Amino acid sequence: ESYSLWGGRFEAENDELMKKFNASLPIDKRLWRQDLIGSKAWARAIHKVGLVDQNELEKILDGLDLVMDEWNTGVFIEKEHDEDIHTANERRLRELIGDMAMKLHTGRSRNDQVATDVRLWLNEHLDILKLNLNILINVLLDRAEKEIEVLMSGYTHLQRAQPIRFSHLLLSYVCPLNRDFERVEQLQKRVNVCPLGSGAIAGNPFKIDRKCLANDLNFLDVSHNSIDSTANRDFIYEFLFVSTSIGISLSKFAEDFIIYNTKEFSFIHLSDTYCTGSSLMPQKKNADSLELIRGKTGRLFGRMNGFMMTVKAIPTSYNKDLQEDKEALFDSYDTVNSLIKIAAGVIDTLKLNQEKMKDSLSVDMLATDLAYYLVRKGVPFRLAHSLAGKC
Ligand code: ARG
Repeated sequence: ESYSLWGGRFEAENDELMKKFNASLPIDKRLWRQDLIGSKAWARAIHKVGLVDQNELEKILDGLDLVMDEWNTGVFIEKEHDEDIHTANERRLRELIGDMAMKLHTGRSRNDQVATDVRLWLNEHLDILKLNLNILINVLLDRAEKEIEVLMSGYTHLQRAQPIRFSHLLLSYVCPLNRDFERVEQLQKRVNVCPLGSGAIAGNPFKIDRKCLANDLNFLDVSHNSIDSTANRDFIYEFLFVSTSIGISLSKFAEDFIIYNTKEFSFIHLSDTYCTGSSLMPQKKNADSLELIRGKTGRLFGRMNGFMMTVKAIPTSYNKDLQEDKEALFDSYDTVNSLIKIAAGVIDTLKLNQEKMKDSLSVDMLATDLAYYLVRKGVPFRLAHSLAGKC
């Protein structure tokens, strides 16, 4: 027997392709835990206003815990009619505790439910992203400290410019990552707002204490407009932007090190653990880790671009277009974290060829210093520049 959250006014079943087209469970089942945590808090909230009694509350909470156990231990069975994670969890709850489960959704809509689930998920996972960023930043800092004496040419326009320390270059990758870290923290403030209680569009009439509900779910604040609460997704594309920004920083690092890893430069040797070979040319060792960092940054950008296009000009309030948010969100999250971890591994394991790095330095690269020498003797800089150039 099929379980649907909405069939009452329908006379015909959905077309088979339409069912698949509409189904989001393969993607949004990643929210199973947040969905159940949100439902438990909602059950407590409707109990407080007398919509379910103590006995019903306990049954519902125990049932939701059982569903949680099933997901946790990998025995939850998805059914054909489970349209999304919300349907799947409620369907299973009803199988486990019977008709009492039918009270849980009182005053709630999947519109405020999904917005809550995603915010809970993202807030948690932004903590993991920050952790991974921190690891990468520390790998760069450690390496910069260790290689403090290593000199090389600094390049502008990929032309030899001025002598720098290798550490100086490594720290230049840290700076944008620090700013991205800050962006994640700022984003967390905006994610950490509870939309639950907003219903489908117009709130709920049951005098639910939304501040208490938000508190129960560890949100820092409650949302203030039920139309906006159910429909806004700017926190998602802000996340997609931050991921893209991290990708852009890492893609530049990747490009630098792909170049430094060539025979022509030979400044660095990537560890075998981050390279792959050629099926045809036995001598080859390719910097695939770095090429993939560079390449997958395009994918991050595409996810951001795609989802922003999806949101553009949809009518106010919830529309099914918004269901597209999760595929972009999860894919970008997975991608950006793998970029960060691979970058950390590459930096941690690569070897330097200090001789080659030193060979990139030549005396003409001190031309600016010569001009500054003259400046210190009182020569105007423009003239000093020209004299040093001639010299
Ligand atoms: N699966 C939907 C989503 O992810 C949940 C909300 C559906 N709401 C609705 N009224 N159909 O957006």
